[in-house]
Amino acid sequence: MMIPHDTIDNILTTTRIEEVIGDYVTLRRRGVNLLGLCPFHNEKTPSFTVSPAKGIYKCFGCGKAGNAVNFLMEHEHFSYPEALKYLAKKYNIEVEEEEQTPEQLQELNEKESLYNLNLFAQQFFTKTLHETEEGKAIGLSYLRERSIREDLIHKFQLGFSPEKWDAFSDYASHQGYKKEFLLKTGLSLEKESRLYDRFHARIIFPIHSVSGRVIGFGGRILGQDKSRPKYVNSPESEIYNKSKTLYGIYFAKTAIIAKDNCFLVEGYTDVISLYQSGIENVVASSGTSLTHDQVRMIQRYTSQITILYDGDTAGIKASFRGIDMIVEQGMNVKIVLFPDGEDPDSFSRKHHPVEVEKFITGNSVNFILFKTKLLLAETQNDPIKKAALIKEIVNTIALIPDGITRSLYIRECSALMTISEMVLMNEMNKILRTRFKKEIPSADQESIPASETFTPTDTQQTLDSDSAEFQEKEIIRLLLLYGHETIHIKKTPDDTEEIQVMVADLVVHEILSDELQFEEPCFKRIFQEYITGNENDSFPDRSWFLSHRDQEVSNMAVNLVFSPYELSQNWLKNNIMVETEEKRLKMHVKHTILSFKSKKIDKMMADLQKQLLSSSSEEEQKELMKSLQKLKKQSIRINNQELGRIITR
Ligand code: CTP
Ligand code: MN
Repeated sequence: MMIPHDTIDNILTTTRIEEVIGDYVTLRRRGVNLLGLCPFHNEKTPSFTVSPAKGIYKCFGCGKAGNAVNFLMEHEHFSYPEALKYLAKKYNIEVEEEEQTPEQLQELNEKESLYNLNLFAQQFFTKTLHETEEGKAIGLSYLRERSIREDLIHKFQLGFSPEKWDAFSDYASHQGYKKEFLLKTGLSLEKESRLYDRFHARIIFPIHSVSGRVIGFGGRILGQDKSRPKYVNSPESEIYNKSKTLYGIYFAKTAIIAKDNCFLVEGYTDVISLYQSGIENVVASSGTSLTHDQVRMIQRYTSQITILYDGDTAGIKASFRGIDMIVEQGMNVKIVLFPDGEDPDSFSRKHHPVEVEKFITGNSVNFILFKTKLLLAETQNDPIKKAALIKEIVNTIALIPDGITRSLYIRECSALMTISEMVLMNEMNKILRTRFKKEIPSADQESIPASETFTPTDTQQTLDSDSAEFQEKEIIRLLLLYGHETIHIKKTPDDTEEIQVMVADLVVHEILSDELQFEEPCFKRIFQEYITGNENDSFPDRSWFLSHRDQEVSNMAVNLVFSPYELSQNWLKNNIMVETEEKRLKMHVKHTILSFKSKKIDKMMADLQKQLLSSSSEEEQKELMKSLQKLKKQSIRINNQELGRIITR
């Protein structure tokens, strides 16, 4: 039994350590890293650090460190293959468990052969560029004319393919490289059973994988010959998948992490020229719009993309849809528009690196604001066009996965378009509602909060998790998301039989039995409807609230359902491996109810104590003391993690 190398590669590149560890440890963002309580030793202040960019964790308390695989081996006592299989399952990657068949082995060997051949070809092209008369006279002089520096020619392993129609094919065949692989890499083509080269008299740009292996080539003609295509590229092969590749990623990744930003340009030469200007966090999509896989690749290093455009607004407008997709993946997108007729390459050849840097920083505009301004300029106060514009912009904003970010954009765009925030908000909620109905027709398709992504909590709008309002919000969210789910619980810890209850039923019962009240008017209104529902034996469902006649209620519902959990709760504590969805839900329900109760009671006790201090009547003081005693008992029971003795683990 063996997991093929390629599958391991695939698993490791797909894995995001913060998602893996996030299933066990509550992590908070701290700069570029995430921080949490170490699951390997007891601690009160977090010193367990996860670096998403580097794919590693390290505890500065106990010294444990490693990658996602090590984490699972350490934490779950998995063997290496078990850890890999766990990850494969998490990311829906298929792992062949049987012995490798001869065909599979051959396929593996085949990939290695393709890599080998590409390496051989790259060396051939580089040698030709630097060491042959033809290469030096034509290739090198062209690169010098474009003022590409010697060190960058070497770094990017640029090369030159000779004019002769079978120079490479012939040489490679003589060196023992098989025809089969020459054809599969696309380095050679076959005509009348003879091999000839794909690349003739072209500057060669090797295309590297993230780990630096040569997976394909781009070849540019010299000069302006209009009769030949400017670029010829390797075809797709088992090792070269265009939509999963970014030119320059291997050279850019460290800088992308360091700058927490990735510049996106169109062409090979743009990458190299910017690199030469000292801007190293740059990759090219090679003339097409970014694919989902390419965005995900960048996302491993940063959540900020800055797209560098050469100045044609028609072209940019055409790319709006593509950029929406990037926004939808949770990336923050900025746009830099270059002056007419300039691309990043020509611009950086004309300007000093300091000026290039300055121009780019000075002209970076957030995509959503950029789009708003650009389209706004075109409406020229035509109300019909403006209405269409609002829809268009709100559509984009609605794609942002994070609720807080969404509302910040609503605010900014409302100012730009001089339209009230409320109008935009309503428009957006309409979109979210339809989308929500489409995406999640029934509640059981939802994932339970442990898998929710983390939102930075340092935004002003985030509620303090200790506040009563936060607790109220979490209860309402629980009701909206999981109210109709059923769980199995014991009535008392000693019971052997479990009974089935609806989450909403339990929540309402728990809160009423402790005589707790909601304060925030909107939450109170929603909860009241659940109480009424309880009495009538039928709870209102989520869509009822999402399209509630009371606008405030429906807006609140939409926002709660759409914003990810702020994982301030640590209900998924250290070392707890929750096997089933139901258990996870049960723990979530338990935690949410208990936190709500304990915060409420704390607050009630604080209020009583205040009254006690200011009270002068002995009679009143006695009463207050009695109430306080009662609350204390309640508080102890709750802090003992008992839920009115209903839920037990
Ligand atoms: N491209 C391609 N085939 C073409 C034209 C372009 O594959 N016939 C891709 C290449 O990856 C190229 C990118 O689109 O790098 C951008 O095209 P363009 O701006 O025309 O090329 P540059 O790389 O900027 O080349 P140069 O500056 O040398 O003209
Ligand atoms: Mn160019």
